[in-house]
Amino acid sequence: MIKPIAYKKTLEGKSNAHLITFNDGRDYVVKYFQPGFEKTLANEWVSYCLARYLGLPIPFAQLVEIPKEFSSQYPELSQMTQTQYQFASLYVPDCLDGHQVTEVPSISNKEKLAGVILFDYWMCNRDRTRKNIILCDDKPNSYRLWIIDHAEVFASYNWTLQDIESLPITILKSATHQMMACFIKNEEEFNEELDIIQTLPIHLIEEIVALIPEDWQVTSEERKAIVSTLHTRRKRILKKLMERFIKRVYLPIHEQDE
Ligand SMILES: Nc1ncnc2c1ncn2[C@@H]1O[C@H](COP(=O)(O)OP(=O)(O)OP(=O)(O)O)[C@@H](O)[C@H]1O
Ligand SMILES: [Mg+2]
Repeated sequence: MIKPIAYKKTLEGKSNAHLITFNDGRDYVVKYFQPGFEKTLANEWVSYCLARYLGLPIPFAQLVEIPKEFSSQYPELSQMTQTQYQFASLYVPDCLDGHQVTEVPSISNKEKLAGVILFDYWMCNRDRTRKNIILCDDKPNSYRLWIIDHAEVFASYNWTLQDIESLPITILKSATHQMMACFIKNEEEFNEELDIIQTLPIHLIEEIVALIPEDWQVTSEERKAIVSTLHTRRKRILKKLMERFIKRVYLPIHEQDE
């Protein structure tokens, strides 16, 4: 397991994410367990693993152990709750967030955008704001898009059993989804991504959920609820939401093109 070697800074935002250099020579954005935000780390972990399987552009991530001896050297870290594991996402340097880019001329990895939108509907991610994508200069006049911050999937960073069993089935208001939809040329891409989500092995979902560290306080009932919510949403709900999104958001954008 990689080990922390230098603390850099605290990043802006409610998660109190910290930028830390590890002994693989790379910087990671590290989130600690926080009271009041109890489901943040589990949400990040489950989202990361599923997004990776789906081939979505999510920065490489892993569970890390930040020893007390390291955290205690820095006031910003020593005040954080100590659990055995933290969630670390590889820092993608030299990027802008969606707020900082006023005009996006083109997206190099646009073949993944329909997948990102469907993923957000599957996970009930109500936080795909402009700040939760990052854009890196790729080819001239073209950005590579990465998705970050899945602290608020399942509608909240502190969902309860009751919440996750009755997640909303509605169109998500997201200017970022609208922006992404502009670059999806073929409506058929949504169906292809739906098929990938629906055929993802259920055992993989169960394994990912089983690997949520014990001290992140996700009970066994809550773990079962994550699996069953994901199963129900992809089987019974996602297609309807996809069709609604295409009708209400995607098609109106593309009708203007014609
Ligand atoms: N992998 C990454 N690479 C580069 N920058 C990142 C990465 N992850 C996070 N950031 C930066 O750190 C900020 C905070 O991270 P993140 O959005 O995950 O947490 P947050 O505190 O929950 O944010 P918010 O308050 O928007 O919910 C991001 O807005 C982004 O600028
Ligand atoms: Mg954020």
